[in-house]
Amino acid sequence: MPFDPIYQRVSHVIPPAEWATMEADVQAIQELKRARRAVILAHNYQTPEIFHGVADIVGDSLALAREAVKVDADVIVLAGVHFMAETAKLLNPGKTVLIPDAKAGCSLAESITPADIALLRAAHPGVPVVAYVNTSAAVKAASDICCTSGNAKKIVESLGVPKVIMLPDEYLAQNIARETEVQIVTWAGHCEVHERFTAADILALRESHPGVTILAHPECPPEVVAVADYAGSTAEMAKFVTERQPARVALITECSMSDNIAQQNQAIEFVRPCNLCPHMKRITLKNIRSALETMQTEVLVEEQYVAPARLAVERMLAVK
Ligand code: 13P
Ligand code: SF4
Repeated sequence: MPFDPIYQRVSHVIPPAEWATMEADVQAIQELKRARRAVILAHNYQTPEIFHGVADIVGDSLALAREAVKVDADVIVLAGVHFMAETAKLLNPGKTVLIPDAKAGCSLAESITPADIALLRAAHPGVPVVAYVNTSAAVKAASDICCTSGNAKKIVESLGVPKVIMLPDEYLAQNIARETEVQIVTWAGHCEVHERFTAADILALRESHPGVTILAHPECPPEVVAVADYAGSTAEMAKFVTERQPARVALITECSMSDNIAQQNQAIEFVRPCNLCPHMKRITLKNIRSALETMQTEVLVEEQYVAPARLAVERMLAVK
């Protein structure tokens, strides 16, 4: 096991005895992927044994959407939350898209409905609606264009209008509003993982860990982003750390982020105040294996939403 190349990628966070309990599932998943012509797309918040052990493509929400378009396989297993699997399905109508636990939701996606968008449109006639990808297909279908945390500013500005409605993440919208001239109407949705960080947490961290570089996800409240050194999507955080090699870093986001990038960045000290996403953590090696064995749970999008929701995602992907 010490020379197993897969184990080498996780040895910094998974002790040998724990890996021994995972090895059989990792092997089985690799074989099932070949047999089913399946690929596993995994979000950066997946645990290291999934991220490094069985995933074929990893990334932030934007990368997963971009890569989903290029996948050459019959089956996509989305190791992430439901809206990500729906986006993969919208972009791959002819492929089977599986989610290992259909209950893997998202507090942001839960916070808004198409009826809410109708009310917003009535209150702001003619103002385009930018929907964060963390929304249901029904909400995407009622929107004009999607965005992610990695391209939100670019998408808002690409529309060439003075005012947009950006939903459902109030904090992401407020953080983007500070960077652009475009006026942004917000909605009161929040990420249950990032809303828990406070500016006081960050200041205490600076006291206790002198010299620490602090990177915050833009789903954090604006007062947290204001006292961080950098704000970006999960992929942008990983890029920042890998390229700049700060001696000490704190990633103000979900706990698996630091675990997943620590191995390639062994000279860096990762300080870990982090919060777990209970939805992301529903995905396990065991239920990925079971998804491939049983071909469950298949993600389907209601016919009425397919074309308009896909258009909103494709408009986003077309913005360079
Ligand atoms: P990104 O990976 O796109 O930054 O999104 C973070 C997130 O919370 C996804 O659920
Ligand atoms: Fe949703 Fe937040 Fe979990 Fe991402 S981290 S899936 S935004 S609840």
